[in-house]
Amino acid sequence: MDQAEQLRNLIKAQGTANRRPLARVITVTSGKGGVGKSNVSINLAVQLRKMGQRVVILDADFGLANIEIMFGTVPKHNLSDLIYQHKNIREIITWGPENVGFISGGSGISGMYNLDRGYLEYIIMNLAELDALADTIIIDTGAGISMSVMDFLVASGEILLVTTPEPTSITDSYSLLKALNQNERFSREYTKVKVISNRVSSTEEGQQLYNKLSAVVSRYLKLPLQYL
Ligand SMILES: Nc1ncnc2c1ncn2[C@@H]1O[C@H](COP(=O)(O)OP(=O)(O)OP(=O)(O)O)[C@@H](O)[C@H]1O
Ligand SMILES: [Mg+2]
Repeated sequence: MDQAEQLRNLIKAQGTANRRPLARVITVTSGKGGVGKSNVSINLAVQLRKMGQRVVILDADFGLANIEIMFGTVPKHNLSDLIYQHKNIREIITWGPENVGFISGGSGISGMYNLDRGYLEYIIMNLAELDALADTIIIDTGAGISMSVMDFLVASGEILLVTTPEPTSITDSYSLLKALNQNERFSREYTKVKVISNRVSSTEEGQQLYNKLSAVVSRYLKLPLQYL
């Protein structure tokens, strides 16, 4: 059983035990870098907080943590404490503006750039422990189709794919979806892919950008997308 399946089983087990539903896991990703993932993650978190939800952001851009810089908060702990110091995942949460919780991916810690599979599995398994603390967990990934990004994507119920009108952003979004679709652990039933058009100048331009991407995706990948 791989970790995505383990996480799904955990979710199922918790559901049937009739406890609080497990936190909603939303992973924010993109093919191309610098398109607005971290800003989307933070703004979404703040809005959900204003609606009364408890939110924790996992900064999964390991070793290049950005969330803490945007929040202007210095975290006491980061993911390396979970992995190397055996801290509990709840102990490494920092509370930022609006009481949004976040888990730092660690900044400039060389051991965090290239985490091996076992550590990734360990992080993903531990996310289920946040259930009691968060209604929504937002995972802000690094750009691209690295193993760690794919692992988070296949373990999430919802993917927010951030795309801009730049041609390279559109083609990289397509490449990411193609890689996801080819991943043997990806389940269309479990993981819904939603698209955000960022840096567009009008509602129409946003819709056109989505239409462009979704036309190619439905033709070649037959993957259903949803426009946000
Ligand atoms: N809608 C927008 N309007 C204006 N500026 C934006 C918008 N979205 C993002 N930006 C700017 O684009 C830059 C990149 O944003 P951000 O750091 O959120 O992207 P990212 O996808 O997380 O980048 P990375 O791939 O490096 O993690 C920032 O300077 C941000 O302020
Ligand atoms: Mg970022």
